[in-house]
Amino acid sequence: MSNPDFSNDLICENLSVLDDTLYFAGQNTKSLAEKYGTPLYLYDEDRIRKLCRIYVSAVKEAFGDKGHILYASKAASFKRMYEIVKEENMGIDVVSGGEIATAKKADFPLNKAFFHSNNKTDSDIKYAIENGVGFFVVDSLDELYAIDSIAKSLNKKPNVILRITPGIDPHTYEEVATGKVDSKFGSAIETGQAKEITGLALNLENIILKGFHCHVGSQVFDSSVYIATVYVMMAFIKEMKDAFGFEAEILDLGGGYGVKYTARDPEIDIYANVLEVCNCVKDEAQKLSLALPELYFEPGRSIVADAGLTLYTMGALKKITGYKNYISVDGGMTDNPRYVLYGAEYTIVPPTMMSAPRDMVCDLVGRCCESGDIIQEKINMPSTLKRGDLIACLTTGAYHYSMASNYNRIPRPPVVMLKGGESYVAVKRETLEDITNLDV
Ligand SMILES: Cc1ncc(COP(=O)(O)O)c(C=O)c1O
Repeated sequence: MSNPDFSNDLICENLSVLDDTLYFAGQNTKSLAEKYGTPLYLYDEDRIRKLCRIYVSAVKEAFGDKGHILYASKAASFKRMYEIVKEENMGIDVVSGGEIATAKKADFPLNKAFFHSNNKTDSDIKYAIENGVGFFVVDSLDELYAIDSIAKSLNKKPNVILRITPGIDPHTYEEVATGKVDSKFGSAIETGQAKEITGLALNLENIILKGFHCHVGSQVFDSSVYIATVYVMMAFIKEMKDAFGFEAEILDLGGGYGVKYTARDPEIDIYANVLEVCNCVKDEAQKLSLALPELYFEPGRSIVADAGLTLYTMGALKKITGYKNYISVDGGMTDNPRYVLYGAEYTIVPPTMMSAPRDMVCDLVGRCCESGDIIQEKINMPSTLKRGDLIACLTTGAYHYSMASNYNRIPRPPVVMLKGGESYVAVKRETLEDITNLDV
């Protein structure tokens, strides 16, 4: 018999098959499910560290001490992630008091934190200033004034960079395309509002304007998107220098590099891409007679996505004769809302029967009382699957644990890290007591 072809399943180097069983980070997924239960988020720590190092080494090669990587912690925010990122000499992007508090719990140096969000509440602003968050990434005029006024009341002068909308279409899902003029994020160059907010920021007494930020979107594979963004942002920096005599010290190009969810997705050479973008910034700085800014990238997804995998246990196979088949599992939109949000594609495999013929077309659905609770439609699975068998959803490290909810009061799964053949719990499984704890 010829060797089975797993090329559509083994989409990342940390996946392998041995004795018909899926291994992740060199560990047997069946044994991990037995040890920790399902649903279960697994994270490959070695893979996370490898990706952090690719980014850091690329930016350091091109920019030396002026090159920085921030981990966009919205992708997966829990204490252990901040510890890993701290050890990898990176900064962080945070979006709420909750993310700041989690980073603080990990003793993360908050002067290396950039506080994002299009609507920072007054209490979050106060909390961030009091805890020494390094930079505010300001989204709007209202927010700029709020930060200035809260800073004044606290007798502080926080650093500010302004989120600019460069008007670039990143050719990705509409829901994560954030660099277009009509995005809810940032101030647009095209409408003149980016220039306006810059002039106003320079006149405020209780903030220090350091530079500019942009983030054009997520799951971007086309490096020309970043190059186009650099041209626009460097031209804007030059325009602000000419208009106000203000030369940005910081340029933050955001995150967005894409990852493989299926074998059809392209593979990105992150090192080469980051280097190319850095060199473009250097060339533009020279052409426009600008000083080299401190350059930041903010990857989230591409640091953690394929370092993650979710294991489920199958409940029922329902065959609606003449219509369709459903496999339901013990998780769903509560631990993975991305199909519901964007129709996101995934690779789904039966981890304990990898070479069984995938002879049944079915939808993989969750356990929530909601018809839209779908993890993936029209997948091929073995018709021999039965209640109690495992199902794995690959590439679930980004925007899964961090987007999880308690809909139907379903407890969230634990996060288990895999490292060098060992495993350990980074986030405990929620209990029914956790679920009812806040009710008074
Ligand atoms: C401002 C900002 N920076 C960075 C990121 C990270 O993007 P990604 O996870 O696609 O790398 C996001 C994602 O939404 C973002 O909004």
